[in-house]
Amino acid sequence: MIIAIDGPAGAGKSTVAKAVATQLGFAYVNTGAMYRAVALCALEAGFALPENESEIVALARHLPIALHDAGSRVFVSERDITDLIRTAQVGDFTSRVSALPGVREVIVAQQRRIGRESEAECGGAVLEGRDIQTVVFPDAPVKIYLDASPAERARRRLSEWTLKSGGAAAPFSLEEAERDITGRDERDSTRETSPLCAADDAEHVITDGLTPDEVVARIVAIVERRAGGV
Ligand code: DC
Repeated sequence: MIIAIDGPAGAGKSTVAKAVATQLGFAYVNTGAMYRAVALCALEAGFALPENESEIVALARHLPIALHDAGSRVFVSERDITDLIRTAQVGDFTSRVSALPGVREVIVAQQRRIGRESEAECGGAVLEGRDIQTVVFPDAPVKIYLDASPAERARRRLSEWTLKSGGAAAPFSLEEAERDITGRDERDSTRETSPLCAADDAEHVITDGLTPDEVVARIVAIVERRAGGV
């Protein structure tokens, strides 16, 4: 069974998708991490956009991306790049690299292969991203569109920053975080290639005011309902 979870940045996809996969014994695939791997290696190779588009597509085609530790760690060959792909610089470049049709073609093919192999190996996969239910697995039996208000996502971003920095004041305000999130939503949902949007038959789960456990329970209930043919 393929479980497709899409939604904007900060909706809680990674935490929830990982927990759903663990609970069901399925593979977990963070598809954004795969685009981030391409962006990191392109930056390290000194590539820029728009001038190096064809080099970046060629790099994506030959990049040996692998997901380990139940999908929580990202490798290129033997190199663990899990932490390196989380910088703001890589995040920014990823949003441009992931808009290249040639890169999407290569990465989507890999995601389909991983999904199919996981179904054969452990019965299923939970894939989270932006276009899983619309492009990668449009026939997935479970499609979840996870969302939260920009204000809630800005609050989460601020508290994550404070937690990571050991309590130091964040270099951005709540209003700036919300403005940034709204701008990113606008870019992600209006881009030409695979814009972020919910499939017509997606179940919408709004995470404002819900704990991760409550969201996971809702999704698992949806999966059980679908598995029972309802
Ligand atoms: O989920 P994330 O923030 O790690 O995603 C990084 C970037 O990759 C973000 O700009 C959206 C893009 N992305 C995408 O275009 N398609 C996906 N399936 C996953 C992520």
